[in-house]
Amino acid sequence: MVELKSARDKEKMKKAGLIVAEVLQVLKKSVKPRMTTKDLDHIADSEIRSRGAVPVFKGYHGYPASVCVSVNHEVVHGIPGTRRLKEYDLVSLDLGAVIDSFVGDAALSVFVGEAPDEAAASLLKVTEDSLYRGIEVARPGGHLGDISYAVQQYVESHGFSVVRDYVGHGIGHEMHEDPQVPNYGFPGRGILLRPGLALAIEPMVNQGDYEVDVLDDGWTVVTRDGSLSAHFEHTIFITEAGPEILTRID
Ligand code: MF3
Ligand code: CO
Repeated sequence: MVELKSARDKEKMKKAGLIVAEVLQVLKKSVKPRMTTKDLDHIADSEIRSRGAVPVFKGYHGYPASVCVSVNHEVVHGIPGTRRLKEYDLVSLDLGAVIDSFVGDAALSVFVGEAPDEAAASLLKVTEDSLYRGIEVARPGGHLGDISYAVQQYVESHGFSVVRDYVGHGIGHEMHEDPQVPNYGFPGRGILLRPGLALAIEPMVNQGDYEVDVLDDGWTVVTRDGSLSAHFEHTIFITEAGPEILTRID
């Protein structure tokens, strides 16, 4: 069942969204060669809590950390650990926080230093741009499939592929609410988009094929062909006037 949120709910979701956005920016700036991915988790945890919020990933189905750190061919749900980042790594950071009983969820990818090559730089840029292509069409009168289609078309027109096995989602009191928001599909299909709908749109884009596997840790999703993968996500709120991005610092 898809739940519509009130204007009051939106204000609370904005608060959660802003915290997620701020902490993600702190993390992005913290990314340095030789630091461990666990260092990023410590920063994420303390930056979320110092803003009066609580990490939502920690304990979610047993997930052990406050942030997901997925490096290179890791797609999503990478568990922070003792691995050290190095120059040219592609690091995807995914973060969720709850405050006033509403959740914010967002992700971004960043290189440690510079991109290793132009194709990798393009992967990151196309993934980010595909998110905005999806957000752009998230307006009343449209259908859920319009978002999916916009993301997929944009990504595939650049020769990359969208992951099928993981999707975006509705969001509110829970991190994962209905509806699912696939990054592939057809325009005009799916539920009608209405004011009050809050969605987390999150393209996961592979340089090679879209197939993925889960590692033995039960969490880390990797590309089957070992190609690079990037991930961007925003929590958005659909209003009469169109989409409002809650996880962005203006
Ligand atoms: N943004 C991700 C999602 O929507 C984060 C979930 S990670 C988990 O699924 F650890 F919390 F599962
Ligand atoms: Co999400």
